[in-house]
Amino acid sequence: GAPAAEVSQYACQRRTTTDNYNVVFTDAFEVLAECYEFNQMDGRCLAFRRAASVLKSLPRGLSSLEETHSLPCLGGHAKAIIGEILQHGRAFDVEKVLSDERYQTLKLFTSVYGVGPKTAEKWYRSGLRSLDHILADQSIQLNHMQQNGFLHYGDISRAVSKAEARALTKAIGETVQAITPDALLALTGGFRRGKEFGHDVDIIFTTLELGMEENLLLAVIKSLEKQGILLYCDYQASTFDLTKLPTHSFEAMDHFAKCFLILRLEASQVEEGLNSPVEDIRGWRAVRVDLVSPPVDRYAFALLGWTGSRQFERDLRRFARKERRMLLDNHGLYDKTKEEFLAAGTEKDIFDHLGLEYMEPWQRNA
Ligand code: CTP
Ligand code: MN
Ligand code: MN
Ligand code: MN
Repeated sequence: GAPAAEVSQYACQRRTTTDNYNVVFTDAFEVLAECYEFNQMDGRCLAFRRAASVLKSLPRGLSSLEETHSLPCLGGHAKAIIGEILQHGRAFDVEKVLSDERYQTLKLFTSVYGVGPKTAEKWYRSGLRSLDHILADQSIQLNHMQQNGFLHYGDISRAVSKAEARALTKAIGETVQAITPDALLALTGGFRRGKEFGHDVDIIFTTLELGMEENLLLAVIKSLEKQGILLYCDYQASTFDLTKLPTHSFEAMDHFAKCFLILRLEASQVEEGLNSPVEDIRGWRAVRVDLVSPPVDRYAFALLGWTGSRQFERDLRRFARKERRMLLDNHGLYDKTKEEFLAAGTEKDIFDHLGLEYMEPWQRNA
């Protein structure tokens, strides 16, 4: 056939929809990436995340190892895994990880909201192997977030459907509207990228009046509490400093006012019903919801940052730094050559500044 177009090493130059024709390979890579993450081998972890991301962008499934020769970001180990899966339908290293007790236990522990790899590791080292062990252990002090993670474990470990996300967006939208009619609001995160299911609902909003955004978020939280649907709230006040340069490290959180919530969603709010027979009978379920409220002049940057995917965001920043001598994060874009910040009213403006073709949200599933 015709020679395939070259695939960019940057996820922000690859159009990646939710159709993944290489899921057998990307699932395998993601298991290995997670295992390396648990072992704090960040380089190898990122290498397998990048490799998975490249395969997600392909228009068809790989059918031979030769097809990988022209692809970027695939190292020897990744190619060996692909070869094994093509030949045998599975790969030895992946099977080994999946059957490993340490991996299984850390995976289980980190599935609890509020439990990161470090805490999981600590519990594993002290001999704990199940969630019941942890709850029964008198010597363990769970923080507020972890207590709620256990309390709502069944609900929040079940996927959130698009219909449920829409119902929550409507509820938050009405809450915002009742406080101020001058607001911008969007469903962001995975649902904005067209995913059918997610682990939470991410919503961004702001006031048209600059400087009132943090008050709006506080008023929204107060209203949710009054409506009786606020099950858990971790509020993080703004630490935003508009004179600071964008951060070099991607993993650093942004400085906008935000909150990590668990909300009560009534079955009657969702046209299609809840994404669970049991909870549908009970009449409600708990859902993880993230709200972020940036100043209106930073809305486009925050929207771009919160839409994801994580791999897409990582490569946008890497592209800006390496190819354009610019620094990008959720707050802004700084041109190191011109020594100035570049303003943006829309996501398109940011892609333009970077000299990148615009990618629609549903093409950012890298
Ligand atoms: N994000 C961020 N700062 C945070 C939390 C999240 O910039 N404090 C960004 C992440 O980088 C990601 C997006 O917000 O791009 C959504 O994060 P998350 O909800 O974890 O992932 P989703 O892509 O929405 O996937 P899922 O469907 O599993 O929720
Ligand atoms: Mn999300
Ligand atoms: Mn996630
Ligand atoms: Mn989120």
